[in-house]
Amino acid sequence: MSSFMSASIGRKLLMSITGLFLISFLCIHLTLNLFLTFDDSGNLFNLAAHFMATNPLIKIMEPVLAVGFVVHIIWSAWITLENMRARPQKYAYGDQLLSWWAPAKNMFILGAMVLVFLVIHLVNFWIKMKFTGDPLLTSVNVGGVEMHNAYALVSNLFMNPLYNVLYMIGGILVGLHISHGFWSAFQTIGFSNQIWLKRLKFLAVAIGVVFAAGFAYIPIYFMIKF
Ligand code: HEM
Repeated sequence: MSSFMSASIGRKLLMSITGLFLISFLCIHLTLNLFLTFDDSGNLFNLAAHFMATNPLIKIMEPVLAVGFVVHIIWSAWITLENMRARPQKYAYGDQLLSWWAPAKNMFILGAMVLVFLVIHLVNFWIKMKFTGDPLLTSVNVGGVEMHNAYALVSNLFMNPLYNVLYMIGGILVGLHISHGFWSAFQTIGFSNQIWLKRLKFLAVAIGVVFAAGFAYIPIYFMIKF
């Protein structure tokens, strides 16, 4: 491994770039998912899902997104475990509760919980829509175009209170993870100026709150509706 990559900043760079890329995906994902709550006929959400499934640019971006997730998860876990191994005394004495909240450990645990949520989430929707199909995914006609009834699949899941709670927790975990990860990524990239860091920390909390509230709002909406 080159000396650049083994240096702490160099190693964190890949984690930061993939993290920022994933945040940009989540912006689009949240916006399109909120369509679920704007139109009870499901047409708006079905149109958005159909656009995402058929647009050539999105098709190219899908494997890039998958690689982004895999690299971010594996690389971040590896760096965090290496850091913990290199500095065990940091966590071995002193206030154990405080050490649990040390940012690196905190992000690792949050990230692991988001990963558990993500796996369940992909099984719920993505695998059914892309590979296995589902009896709920019948064909609907929206504006003369035949497409999958993705709305039926999603709204049906949110009739189950257990999934409502899981998706609320998932949204909050993602928001918490990003409220640290966003500014930390910019710091790694080189924004070490104190004024900018203060602004970025504020922005990170704002983005985290929007993600947590936005993703949690969707199951809450369906809980109230059904
Ligand atoms: C209420 C919250 C959410 C809803 C209703 C929702 C809905 C969906 C649906 C319907 C799909 C399948 C799209 C397709 O295959 O065309 C999907 C895929 C996906 N979701 Fe979510 N999602 C939610 C929250 C999240 C969160 C919090 C994350 C991040 C941890 C996330 C990450 C992903 C990823 C990575 C995919 C696969 C990529 C894709 O093809 O779009 N989702 N989601």
